[in-house]
Amino acid sequence: MDKIRFGIIGAGLRGILALGKTLLERPDCEILALADPNIERLKMAQGQLGGIPLRLHVDMRDLVAERDIDIVMVTSPDHLHGDHIVAALKAGKHVFADKPLAINTAQCKEIVRVSRETDRIVDMGFNLRYDAVCRKMKELVAGGAIGRLMLVENNDYYAGGRTYMCRWNRFYEKSGGLFCHKGSHDLDLINWLNPDGLPVTVSALAGVNVFTPEGLPFPLEPGEEAGPHCETCRVAYKCKDRHNNTVDMFHGKAPDCDGYHLDTCMYLSEKNTHDNGIAIVEYDNGMRASHSECFFTPLNERRFSLVGDRGHLDANTSTNCITVYPRWTKDRTEYRLSRPEGGHGGADPTMIETLIRNFRTRTIPFATLRDGTLSVAVAEAAERSRREGRTVKIDELLTRAELKDLFGQGKAL
Ligand SMILES: NC(=O)c1ccc[n+]([C@@H]2O[C@H](COP(=O)([O-])OP(=O)(O)OC[C@H]3O[C@@H](n4cnc5c(N)ncnc54)[C@H](O)[C@@H]3O)[C@@H](O)[C@H]2O)c1
Repeated sequence: MDKIRFGIIGAGLRGILALGKTLLERPDCEILALADPNIERLKMAQGQLGGIPLRLHVDMRDLVAERDIDIVMVTSPDHLHGDHIVAALKAGKHVFADKPLAINTAQCKEIVRVSRETDRIVDMGFNLRYDAVCRKMKELVAGGAIGRLMLVENNDYYAGGRTYMCRWNRFYEKSGGLFCHKGSHDLDLINWLNPDGLPVTVSALAGVNVFTPEGLPFPLEPGEEAGPHCETCRVAYKCKDRHNNTVDMFHGKAPDCDGYHLDTCMYLSEKNTHDNGIAIVEYDNGMRASHSECFFTPLNERRFSLVGDRGHLDANTSTNCITVYPRWTKDRTEYRLSRPEGGHGGADPTMIETLIRNFRTRTIPFATLRDGTLSVAVAEAAERSRREGRTVKIDELLTRAELKDLFGQGKAL
């Protein structure tokens, strides 16, 4: 069987260490080229991929122009997704787009337009959909275990998210804000759990309460200064959040090339996103949902409480446990799930397996452009709400006609 040939735009943590390495493990896939403006990082990325022969491009336009690439994987920073996906589609390539699809709904609409025009497919990298707990939760809800879903409470407690404050992710202009950058996973999952409803209104509150200069987790003695990077910080030895930068792609010559450090002080860094926030969403079929996210928690887990008119379901991606409580009984059913090996609790290899299968059979992606657009729309509404202090209607971003149009699509979405 012919191998599926990939080109990766964005030779960073996700593109190389997570997805690139996942592709490398598959005998039916081949990576032909990488694009990243940082030539030093490109060379180190090639080393991370075992030194396989690769064409390295500092301009992604040269990668999308390569004739023998089947799928372009877009893992550049979020604010570049729009341009990079559109360029790949226009060059006749199918695309795997890591989340979020783009940083705002207008960019998503343009991607949808070009995808239709070129008849090329975009598969969304919503790995949470492939998580063992989330898949079982979806199966139970779709199978009627709790009746008609009415209320969702979802919490993303992500200690790892504190590193967003060290990188580009902390800037609204680059990530669309963290409801978009991180919340787009959960907001997609909530949309997925409620296939008969469309989001209508969103309200949100968010802020930075811990990753501030006042939040430094140790006292500074007179004359002492912290930052700007852990590697050079004279008081890093006191800091329990210090980053031990061990990834060679972000060491030595690579940051010299573009000034991009993974270890900018998360407390002193300038930022305009949030370190905790909550969004509530109402759907046109009466379902209501809340999504909260926190990046100074010591936990790394997602929790869901789903209530339907016939029961209640609690799920936790850290304990791998789902409990269903049917209404009007004292019964409960517990599901203990196991996870396959691989990134994101085994979700990444499953996602790539699905991508390959669907690509070979020309099947509609498991997570489509419609899903990517809808999750960005809810996230953008949440960002607007928290910035403007008001409830935001989804139709400010996507009209009902546009939503219906998105739903009506087949192959190209
Ligand atoms: N699905 C998930 O769970 C998940 C997890 C992490 C990251 N992501 C997504 O993956 C993407 C990359 O995130 P990351 O953490 O790897 O970031 P990163 O900073 O580690 O990597 C981004 C890379 O893109 C490169 N880049 C910058 N400008 C570019 C350009 N014009 N053309 C090509 N490359 C360019 C940078 O030099 C860097 O090497 C983001 O969209 C992020 O949201 C998804």
